[in-house]
Amino acid sequence: MNMLRKSYILLTFMLAVIFTSNADEGMWMLQQLRQQKLSAMHELGLKLEDYDIYDPAGTSLKDAVVQFGRGCTGEVISSQGLVLTNHHCAFGQIQQHSSLENNYLEEGFWAMRQEDELVNPGLTVTFIDQIEEVTGWVKDCLVRDREKDTDGLFYLSPSYLNGIAREKAGEQFLKDHPGTEVEIKPFFGGNQYYMFTKKIYSDVRLVGAPPSSIGKFGADTDNWMWPRHTGDFSLFRIYADKEGNPAKYSPTNVPLKPKRWLTVSTRGVEENDFAMILGFPGSTHKYYTSWEVAERRDIDNSVRIQMREVRQHAMLEEMLDDPAVKIQYASKYAGSTNAYKNAVGTSWAIDMRDFEGLKREQQTRLIEWSRHNKKPQYTEALNEIERIVKERAGLRYRSWMLNEAIVRGVEFAAVPTAAADSLLQALVQEDQAEAERQLQLLEDAFRRFTNKDYNPEVDRKVAKEMFDAYIQSLPRESYPAAFNQLFTDFEGDIGRYVDHLVDHSLFSSEENFRRFATGKPDPETLRNDPLFHFARSVRDEAASLRSQQAVFDVPLSLARRIYMEGLLAMEEPYALFPDANLTLRLSYGQVKGYQPRDGVVYRHQTTIEGVMEKEDPGNWEFVVPGKLRKLYREKDFGPYTLSNGSLPVAFAATTHTTGGNSGSPVMNGNGELIGINFDRNWEGVGGDIQYLPDYQRSIIVDIRYVLFIIDKYAGASHLISEMEIN
Ligand code: ARG
Ligand code: ASP
Repeated sequence: MNMLRKSYILLTFMLAVIFTSNADEGMWMLQQLRQQKLSAMHELGLKLEDYDIYDPAGTSLKDAVVQFGRGCTGEVISSQGLVLTNHHCAFGQIQQHSSLENNYLEEGFWAMRQEDELVNPGLTVTFIDQIEEVTGWVKDCLVRDREKDTDGLFYLSPSYLNGIAREKAGEQFLKDHPGTEVEIKPFFGGNQYYMFTKKIYSDVRLVGAPPSSIGKFGADTDNWMWPRHTGDFSLFRIYADKEGNPAKYSPTNVPLKPKRWLTVSTRGVEENDFAMILGFPGSTHKYYTSWEVAERRDIDNSVRIQMREVRQHAMLEEMLDDPAVKIQYASKYAGSTNAYKNAVGTSWAIDMRDFEGLKREQQTRLIEWSRHNKKPQYTEALNEIERIVKERAGLRYRSWMLNEAIVRGVEFAAVPTAAADSLLQALVQEDQAEAERQLQLLEDAFRRFTNKDYNPEVDRKVAKEMFDAYIQSLPRESYPAAFNQLFTDFEGDIGRYVDHLVDHSLFSSEENFRRFATGKPDPETLRNDPLFHFARSVRDEAASLRSQQAVFDVPLSLARRIYMEGLLAMEEPYALFPDANLTLRLSYGQVKGYQPRDGVVYRHQTTIEGVMEKEDPGNWEFVVPGKLRKLYREKDFGPYTLSNGSLPVAFAATTHTTGGNSGSPVMNGNGELIGINFDRNWEGVGGDIQYLPDYQRSIIVDIRYVLFIIDKYAGASHLISEMEIN
C-alpha cells in the first residue's frame, strides 16, 4: 500500500472516530449490540454475550430493568419484586407521605414488614417485554394515511404512532393482556421506528428510604458534582394480582414474582474496570447543528439561568425561615435548581469545548460528502435549519421568558382556568344543573391547586420578584394583556399589583372560595376575578406564541429528518446511535476518575471519609445523622469494609448517561449490580450535545454503601436476605 493511501485511510479513520462516536460514547439500542459494540465491550472486560443482555426469545438482564415513574429507571433485585431506584426519584412520594409528625424526608422510612409498605397512587413501573423494528410498517401507514395528515407531522406524532402501534398489536391482544401497552417511537428524527410492548404495574409501594441527610447529602451544592458522597437510593416493591398481572392497588395484591432480578456483587470496583448501564435516558441532542447549539446557549439556557436565580433565591429565603415551608417547597426547589445547574454546565461546555465548532465540522463534512455524491438535499436541509433558527429567535426568547418567569415561575398562573371557563359559561346560560356540576369540578380543581404544598405567601413573594425580572427583560408590547392593568391602575407598582391579584381572588383562600361558592355564584364575580383574568391572559399569550412558532415546526422537523438521513448515509452502517428518547438503552465504559482542571486530579471512588470531611451541622445540606457518625467512629462497616478499613460511598464511570438514567443499574462484566447511577459531573453535562471522553462521568452510588445503609444503619436486614449477593 502506498504511503498516501495509507495516510488517507488513517485520516478517514480518525475523522470517523471524531465524528461518529468516541470510545465509550453512546446510548445503544439493545437489538444491534452484536453489530455495534459487543466486541468493544468484550475488550473492556464484558464477560457476557449480547443475548445475556437482551434476548428476544427468552429472559435476559433487560427483564430486570424498569422505567420508574415517568422519568427514572429502576432495577428488580429480588424474587419478590423488590426494586431499587434513587432517593431523588422517590422524593415526591417520600414527601407525600411526610408530615411534621412523620417526617420521612427528615428521618427516613423503613417498612419492617410487608404490611407496612406505603401505597403510592399514580406511581408506575414499566417493563419492556418486546422490541421490534417497524420502520417499513410505519412508512406504509404514513402513505396510507397521507390524506389525513394535514400538518404533515404524523411521522413524529406520538398519538398517530401509538394509534398504529395498537393497530399492529390488535385490540384483542391488548384486551387479553391487562396492563400491556404498545408504543412506536421515532429514531434519528423519523428515519427509523421501533415498537415497544410494555407491561405497566401501578401498585408500587415504598419499602425504604434513608433520611435526606444520607439520600440527598450535599443537596444542591453537591448536585452535578464529583467527588460525591450521597446515598441516593430508595426501595420499592411491585405488587400484582394473584396471576402476576398488573392491577390497581388492592390489599389482596401480592408481591410480583418477576421473570428476572439482578444479582448483587459486593466485590467492588477498581479503576478501569468495565461497567455498563441499562436504563431509560430521556433526551439528548447529539445531532444538533451549530446554530441550534448557539440557540440553546443564547436563548434557552440564558433565560432559564437568569429567571431561576431570581425564583430560587426568593423560595430559599422562605424555606430557611420556616421548617413547614421547607417541607412544602423541597421538591419544587430541588427540581428548579437541578435544571438550572444543568443549564449553567451545558452553556459552559458549549463555550469551553467549542461545541459550535465541533458541530460545524460535522456539517462541513456532510456538505462535502453530499457535493461529492450529488445529494444536494442534505446541504439544503442545513441551510433550512440555519434560516429557521434565525427567524424564530425573537419568538423563542419571548416564550422561554414567559415560560420560565411566569408559567413555571409563579404558581398562581396555574389557577384552574379551564374549569372556571366552563362554570362561567354555564352561569351565563343560566343552566342550573350544569352550573352545579361545573362548580363541583371547579372546587376539585381548586383543591388540587391549593394542595398541601401550596403556600400563598411564598407564591406572592416569588411572583413579585418574577414579575419584576420579566418586565425588565422584555418590551411592554410583549407582555400578556393582563399586565396592562399594572400600568393603568397601579402605576407600575408591582407589589401593589400582585397584592391586588392575590388578595381579591376567589382562588387565593378557602374563605374566598367559600364566599363565592355558597348560595348562587355570581358570573360577574367570576368573570372579573383578578387571578382568573391574569391566568387566562397568560394562557392566551402562551397559546399565541405557540401557534406563531408552529409555522416553523413542520419545515424544521423535515429539514432535521433529511439532515439525519444524510448523516446516516454518510457514516458506516451501525456507526451511529440515536438520540435518547426515553427508550431502553445500554451505555458502557470504565470506572474512572478525571482531571477537571489543569493540575487537578479526581479519583474514581469516594468513601465515608469524605462524608465526614463535608459534615457541617450548621448547614442543612451537610448534616450527618448521629447514627452514621457513630458507625463511622466505631468503623463498624461489616462486610462492606474496604481493604483500607474505610467504607465506599460512590464511584465515577465513563458511561454515557443523561436525565432519565437516574436509578439505572450499573453492572460489572458479569452483569452483576455494583451500583446505582444517579448523576453526572458538572463538567460533563454538555455530553447531551457532545460526549467528551475526558470529562463526562456518570456518578454512581456504590452498592456496598446502599447495603450498608439498609443493613447497618437501618437494621432492615430482612431486605438484605431477600437479595442474591455475591
Ligand atoms: N442531578 C441529578 C438529576 O438530574 C439529581 C437531581 C436531584 N437532586 C437535587 N438536588 N435536585 O436528576
Ligand atoms: N440525575 C439525572 C436523572 O435524574 C441523571 C443525569 O442527568 O445524569 O436522571
